[in-house]
Amino acid sequence: MDSLDWSTWLEIDLAAIRNNVSRLRDLSDAAVMAIVKANGYGHGAIPAAQAAVEGGAAWCGVSRLEEALALRHAGLVCPILVLGYTPPARLPQAMANQVSLTVYDPELAASYVECAREGTGEVRVHVKVETGMGRLGIDPAKALDLIRYLREQPGIMVEGIFTHFARADEPDVETTQQQLDRFQKVLDGLKSNGHGLPPMIHASNSAGAIYFKDARFNLIRVGAAMYGLDPSPQAPLPPDFYPALSWKTRITSIKDLSAGHGVSYGSRYITRKTERIGVIPVGYADGLRRVDHQQVLIHGELAPIVGSVCMDQCMVQLDGLPQARLEDEVVVIGRQGNRAITSEDLARRWGTINYEVVCGLANRIPRIYLNASGKNQPAFKP
Ligand SMILES: Cc1ncc(COP(=O)(O)O)c(C=O)c1O
Repeated sequence: MDSLDWSTWLEIDLAAIRNNVSRLRDLSDAAVMAIVKANGYGHGAIPAAQAAVEGGAAWCGVSRLEEALALRHAGLVCPILVLGYTPPARLPQAMANQVSLTVYDPELAASYVECAREGTGEVRVHVKVETGMGRLGIDPAKALDLIRYLREQPGIMVEGIFTHFARADEPDVETTQQQLDRFQKVLDGLKSNGHGLPPMIHASNSAGAIYFKDARFNLIRVGAAMYGLDPSPQAPLPPDFYPALSWKTRITSIKDLSAGHGVSYGSRYITRKTERIGVIPVGYADGLRRVDHQQVLIHGELAPIVGSVCMDQCMVQLDGLPQARLEDEVVVIGRQGNRAITSEDLARRWGTINYEVVCGLANRIPRIYLNASGKNQPAFKP
């Protein structure tokens, strides 16, 4: 199937993902964990993971065990870490599929130990340390005891230790430095108490990996950067990273509406003269927000969306585009001619972050994969 089969579709440039992972490896000198949770930030977890591995990623990271199992079933053989909570009852599946789990709570750790005793294999765990994110993580003062306890248990292998930054994408470096210091203290404690460090040590998300040299350790956990998304407006990607995702559709109707004609629910847009109004089959059920002052690209020019965005459709004003015809291609995110609309542009318009834009793209939109294998040369340059 190609784009001709669809009314709206996402194009995912796998060469961009390969390129971005390879850039991350070059700049960090650490192993890369490709974060492919939430359906690979909307890009499709399995193709994104495969492309990331081709680009040099050694690990994949997901939020939930079911996401890890989907990768295993698709044939991915690299180590996979579940970053979130895993119910103890699912331990046998994690063991059978060699999926590593996050441990951050002594009570949960005891449940894992009990399940591991009943199993035949080994549970690999990464201990997560709370250093300032206020989410999952063991109090640094209790981390050594937890690691010591886990190491004494049969069937448990402490494979990693990690933390997560709350503000690595902000210009103020102080809080990240504080988190790093707290994490480093735990690592120093492990070394000086004769416990030794687990094989994998990681702290950095994309912003941490790019902007905090001392926070890379031997593994970086990158999502945004591998998809070519800026970690934040204040922490843009370096040159040579490319966005992997474009969102396209086509014009499904064009007609002239006479002056004073209402457009869409609530007639919140009224034509001021005879206006050429097109329809495009994307709406809020696809992930386009129901907000005013949005634009799309048609024939390389910006065209305003007018009237309320409907569930599956919205209207565009085509007066400035006399050449526009039925079924012409429309770009919601991506490049057309010399212009581009980025996920960052939409995020700004919606008052949110680019992560939410791409994660909000509906599953019903087909994903078309470009450059499924080959050189690290992205199809689109931003
Ligand atoms: C624990 C953890 N590590 C790494 C990442 C990747 O972050 P980013 O997409 O900013 O690289 C996330 C994403 O939310 C995360 O929750």
